[in-house]
Amino acid sequence: MVSNQSEVPRSITLRRPDDWHVHLRDGAMLAQVLRYTARQFARAIVMPNLLPPIRTVDTARAYCARILAALGREAGLHGGDEGVFTPLMTCYLTDTTDPEELARGFAEGVFVAVKLYPAHATTNSAFGVTDIRRVQPVLERMAAIGIPLLVHGEVTDAAIDVFDREAVFIEQVLDPLRRRLPELKIVLEHVTTEEAVEYVQSASANLAATITAHHLQINRNALFAGGIRPHLYCLPIAKREKHRQALRRAATSGDRRFFLGTDSAPHMQPAKETACGCAGIFTAPCALELYAEVFEERTALDRFEAFAALNGAAFYGLPANEERVTLRHEPCVVPERIGEGDMAVIPFRAGETLRWRLIPS
Ligand code: DOR
Ligand code: ZN
Repeated sequence: MVSNQSEVPRSITLRRPDDWHVHLRDGAMLAQVLRYTARQFARAIVMPNLLPPIRTVDTARAYCARILAALGREAGLHGGDEGVFTPLMTCYLTDTTDPEELARGFAEGVFVAVKLYPAHATTNSAFGVTDIRRVQPVLERMAAIGIPLLVHGEVTDAAIDVFDREAVFIEQVLDPLRRRLPELKIVLEHVTTEEAVEYVQSASANLAATITAHHLQINRNALFAGGIRPHLYCLPIAKREKHRQALRRAATSGDRRFFLGTDSAPHMQPAKETACGCAGIFTAPCALELYAEVFEERTALDRFEAFAALNGAAFYGLPANEERVTLRHEPCVVPERIGEGDMAVIPFRAGETLRWRLIPS
């Protein structure tokens, strides 16, 4: 359908969305980035890949308390314009994770999900799982109690082309896992390929996927436009255009198995702009605005609420948020940077003008 400018509404109002995959970090970085996520989202699934990772109920509780404390300080400093924000904590799966610890954390309402990083797949994944079969007893326990497994879906074999690692993971790891344990709830995180989209579409309702704003907006050409673009490097890496189109169709389809997960992953500017830069794209400052552009381009703004605020909550068995947010169709400039000096972080599309602006409630 041809998009007609006159059909674009001047504003849209939707339930306050949730971010089902975000990196909030810790310490000074947490203090500097948290406000952006808390301003946009009611809840967020917080990734556990700190150093050392979050592997126990006690460390998750303590990390959650640090997040809430950082929020309190922000509210105090800035007049408390953030809505209520709830961090949802995750446990980092290792070869030696104790199923009892997981079950206790889930029963006590501390752990909402468990994160699988294949060892050495990405940032702070050195403690990750070396072979999925080693954690079979843990996964069986998870299936029995109903806690979801969140999967970084890439094989780590250096012989596999980096652009193929997601598709190979689905074939070699995810599909066999789902056949062994069909009742396990799984989220294939930050999907980047047509293969992943089709796999999720063909599966039962206990497999879902998150989609980032950046993978909806860029293909792999963007990484090399006029020179190498370290701030567009993330894992899984952006793929070719046909994959981006598949992601855009999936996100805007209304299919309940696809929902919002920014994977906003801040790194300090010197760690990105260097000979061996870190993986991670920082979208938190304007995440909803970025997604809204995609839904507008696909004339699917009527499905934005399902993707951003309903499907994820339904998958996790949580109530939808009652609060509303409004996005106005008006120019919104992405900050050039947030933070100062060595702590500076360069957001996705820094300095550019987006077509939507979030008006927090
Ligand atoms: O690009 C990424 N950055 N992908 C990940 O899986 C981890 C993340 C990070 O923590 O920086
Ligand atoms: Zn991530």
